[in-house]
Amino acid sequence: MTVHFIGAGPGAADLLTLRGRDLIAASPVCLYAGSLVPEGVLAHCPPGCRIVNTAPMSLDAIMAEIAAADAEGLDVARLHSGDLSIWSAMGEQLRRLRTLGIAYDVTPGVPSFAASAAALGVELTLPGLAQSVVLTRTSGRASAMPERETLAAFASTGATLAIHLSIHALGQVVAELVPFYGADCPVAVVWRATWPDQRIVRGSLATIERAVGPEIDRTALILVGRALAAEGFEESRLYAGDYDRRYRPVGTAPRFPE
Ligand SMILES: C[S@@+](CC[C@H](N)C(=O)[O-])C[C@H]1O[C@@H](n2cnc3c(N)ncnc32)[C@H](O)[C@@H]1O
Repeated sequence: MTVHFIGAGPGAADLLTLRGRDLIAASPVCLYAGSLVPEGVLAHCPPGCRIVNTAPMSLDAIMAEIAAADAEGLDVARLHSGDLSIWSAMGEQLRRLRTLGIAYDVTPGVPSFAASAAALGVELTLPGLAQSVVLTRTSGRASAMPERETLAAFASTGATLAIHLSIHALGQVVAELVPFYGADCPVAVVWRATWPDQRIVRGSLATIERAVGPEIDRTALILVGRALAAEGFEESRLYAGDYDRRYRPVGTAPRFPE
């Protein structure tokens, strides 16, 4: 018996990996994390599958479901939205499974920051502008931020910021970022990326608060950085005609001779 942790992607049912789909189809029990996992993904569950929404359950109750499946020798597909490596509460479940000696594996999913960047049609790392993306959030009721992980600390680097779980605190985010990025810095808010009702609001740190209506709540990502609206950036050296590299030696004495 194995618990298969599967990243269910950001919303669109076809943004699930083939491996994830096949594991769901082969598992007689499916535990999924609430409203962010789309119905279309659950459609891959086999006939007769026990499908449980874990949103209203405690960790103890979720582990009891898994233990019951283990006792019957039934594989479990455990679905969380986006990818499992960020804000999925997978870590605490894996720790319990290790204690219980229950086997598990992990299949990644498309994270919401990547889906949002795709919706915007942007690359978050542009030469000369930003070469790092910070995946972060502001403090919430369930999780306080570690003392040194402040927006100001990340903003001081000028990296592109992908701020999760924070649309309710947009005013605070703007106030903390303006001193570092400037009021004219591009911002995009992507609400329910890849869902049929996806919405995109673009603006600057000066305008975004007014542009975002009250209907944009909870499932929204705030992207901030100069890369978002850049046209005048450098081209990368990778494809430059005179850039001598392993897969395209250039000149009479290439660095990586064939
Ligand atoms: C609990 S976290 C889950 C993150 C998820 N594991 C991931 O890989 O993106 C939920 C937050 O992720 C962001 N999010 C998740 N799905 C989204 C989507 N489809 N569009 C925009 N933001 C999304 C929002 O900031 C939301 O508050």
